[in-house]
Amino acid sequence: MSIPLHIGIIMDGNGRWAEMRGLPRFEGHRRGVERAMEITEAALGTGIKVLSLYAFSIENWRRPEDEISVIMSLLESTLKGKSLNFMKEGIKFKVIGNRDRLSDNTREIVESVERLTENNDKFTLQCALSYSGRDEIIRAVKRAISIGLSPEDISEERISQLLDTSGIPDLDLIIRTSGEQRLSNFLLWQSAYSEFYFTSTLWPDFTKEELLEAIYNYQTRDRRFGKLTNGAVKCT
Ligand code: IPE
Ligand code: IPE
Ligand code: MG
Repeated sequence: MSIPLHIGIIMDGNGRWAEMRGLPRFEGHRRGVERAMEITEAALGTGIKVLSLYAFSIENWRRPEDEISVIMSLLESTLKGKSLNFMKEGIKFKVIGNRDRLSDNTREIVESVERLTENNDKFTLQCALSYSGRDEIIRAVKRAISIGLSPEDISEERISQLLDTSGIPDLDLIIRTSGEQRLSNFLLWQSAYSEFYFTSTLWPDFTKEELLEAIYNYQTRDRRFGKLTNGAVKCT
């Protein structure tokens, strides 16, 4: 089977990684962001075209303020530090999610890196930030109404175009670290026929080798999309 075009990663377990070591949770987030950049580098050489990283959910706004501000400033400094690398590697950077809830500073940094990298076409790094799948669908429906679409205009294609991920193929593979086996509101529409790879590895310990292992594992799957497997006996 072929290489997945689009992989999503639910990068979970930063807090537990830190707590297990007697470190503050922010240390786990710091390692987690570093890991995210290393795994992006690793993904570049695999033939994957889009990597979607779940960095911060809308529900994560319910966390203590100091944890949220550490996560946001880590994202800001990483983006500032990596933007030239993105240019060098041909990476288009894009944020999906509800921007209204981001601070002006975070939004400005995100948007300047998006503008800088918008013409890169080798690889797309989508960062789900202040993101929830249901919120994305609600915003798409509101947009459909505001541009005056009528019921007969609504189709799967049209909804897909109105989502934050417009123009990006659906997810082939979703990886979730830390042993949890749920979507936690990640890319609900785009995961309709995704394959899943769950691992107990905590995100700061996730390696390039495990990314490759997830891809090999994906290649053993039989993606039927509701049809019969090649060679299956037809029911006459
Ligand atoms: C994932 O790690 C990062 C975010 C959700 C921002 P967690 O912070 O959820 O780590 P655990 O699940 O508490 O270990
Ligand atoms: C999901 O992790 C969100 C991200 C990885 C950014 P959470 O740790 O927030 O998910 P739940 O609360 O365990 O479902
Ligand atoms: Mg978690």
